[in-house]
Amino acid sequence: MNIQLQKNTIWNLSHQPHAIVCGVSGSGKSMLLIYLLYKFAQLNSEIYIIDPKISDLFQLGQFLPNGHLATDTNSTISILERIEIIMNDRQKEIVSSKRFGIDAYSLGFHPVVLFYDELAALTTQITKKETKQHYESLLKNIILKGRSAGIQVVFSLQQPNATNLPTEIREQCSLKICLGVTTPISTREMIFGKQSNWIQPPLDSFGVGWFSLGTPTVNIFEAPNMKNFNPNTRLIPLLNKEERHIRGYSSFE
Ligand SMILES: Nc1ncnc2c1ncn2[C@@H]1O[C@H](COP(=O)(O)OP(=O)(O)O)[C@@H](O)[C@H]1O
Ligand SMILES: [Mg+2]
Repeated sequence: MNIQLQKNTIWNLSHQPHAIVCGVSGSGKSMLLIYLLYKFAQLNSEIYIIDPKISDLFQLGQFLPNGHLATDTNSTISILERIEIIMNDRQKEIVSSKRFGIDAYSLGFHPVVLFYDELAALTTQITKKETKQHYESLLKNIILKGRSAGIQVVFSLQQPNATNLPTEIREQCSLKICLGVTTPISTREMIFGKQSNWIQPPLDSFGVGWFSLGTPTVNIFEAPNMKNFNPNTRLIPLLNKEERHIRGYSSFE
């Protein structure tokens, strides 16, 4: 299971689970998430969206089956609980297959992917302590155990500090992208660590920044140009399918 991120950069979902996209407002985070959403939809993935700012991803999420779109704490927790059930079911199947070292994809499962845009906008709303603990433990569990079960999370947030996102979760993301040449160096350092020499992107255009994928090496990132991408014709028809047939899906219905 692969996704082309840019020329010469392929994201291998089995070996490099989870992504985090950070950067200032307007740097192209949501656009990049929409591109990835399209690529995951082409892989016949089961897609979930959390969009607390009720923005671009929310618009697309309205075309998903019921229960796949969240904007507030309760619906977010429902989605996380649902994904955890899928994960546990898949893990049981993997164990009972008695084949060593395999993951969900080799058993024929499709990816399950959660797009979580502007995570901090929701996290800061959760004030009740027990709710926050439940929310964080679900998220951590999905991030830690998701890889072998074919479950992916793609986060976006402006500033990936520990208040917004627990460090363990951030560190589990194999794909790290920081967009926007005006994004403060402190933000870049939060996800990549300190670099003595920042390579400067060639130009300040939409979706330009830095990335690392599975290794500490940081390189220039240029998001695909989405100017002529028409979601109505290319993406929405892929989301529109009610309850596609996905293995391991029926057990919680
Ligand atoms: N990859 C891209 N291709 C084309 N236009 C883009 C791209 N990324 C960003 N833009 C333009 O910049 C605007 C802001 O991008 P957006 O993804 O909403 O930023 P963010 O989510 O980081 O606030 C978009 O509405 C779009 O016009
Ligand atoms: Mg956005």
